[in-house]
Amino acid sequence: MTDARWTAVDAYFSDRLVPEDEALQAALRVSREAGLPPINVAPNQGKLLHLIAQIQGARRILEVGTLGGYSTIWLGRALPDDGHLVSLEADPRHADVARGNLAHAGLAGRTEVRLGPALDTLAALVEEGAEPFDLVFIDADKPNNPHYLEWALKLTRRGSVIIGDNVVRGGAVVDGDAADPTVRGVRDFLELMGRNPRLSATAVQTVGAKGYDGFSLARVIA
Ligand code: SAH
Ligand code: DHB
Ligand code: MG
Repeated sequence: MTDARWTAVDAYFSDRLVPEDEALQAALRVSREAGLPPINVAPNQGKLLHLIAQIQGARRILEVGTLGGYSTIWLGRALPDDGHLVSLEADPRHADVARGNLAHAGLAGRTEVRLGPALDTLAALVEEGAEPFDLVFIDADKPNNPHYLEWALKLTRRGSVIIGDNVVRGGAVVDGDAADPTVRGVRDFLELMGRNPRLSATAVQTVGAKGYDGFSLARVIA
């Protein structure tokens, strides 16, 4: 479901509020030329992630699902000079493209793309005693969202923020009988979030250039 007006309004907002520079545009161009799917966040969503990271004062950011590094650039640019971002990606081609795009954006020193299924790389982060992350952006394979939330809780502290992308599934998220594993994954993710006394959470529906979608936002409160 998309609407020309949603796209026009996104363009209107972005033209005024979300200047995209050469590095962001290059990241999308290079990703497209490499044949990556165009499922990056929209520019105004990327800017929202950037602003939330800054409001949060995030020094350490964890992303699950890098693709070509478009959202990674928005998040990485919110970090102070001594900040660090780890982004997890299973597809070696995506990871390669993302590393190039991050280097081109001048973020090679502050960002790290770890290759492998996120369930493995998340376990490795815990195993190596990684310091808590201040913000986690979950945006990979949706069936694993409940697991990603559990790992995120091991890798955060009181006050950390956990954001989940694409929680609407075209509205199918309300369908308790859904067979679609992405719907089931998102439902279980939201259910866990609502039940967990360590989290205070909400979710918001959105429309825009990427159609009808939405995101969840949670704060670790204990
Ligand atoms: N955050 C990106 C978009 C990510 S798209 C942006 O907004 O710019 C989802 C990404 O998750 C894809 O690159 C896909 O290869 C990756 N992915 C899928 N399954 C994964 C898994 N099990 N572990 C890690 N990454 C995975
Ligand atoms: C898909 C994945 C995403 O993370 C997204 O933002 C949009 C679409 C997908 O797998 O189709
Ligand atoms: Mg997404």
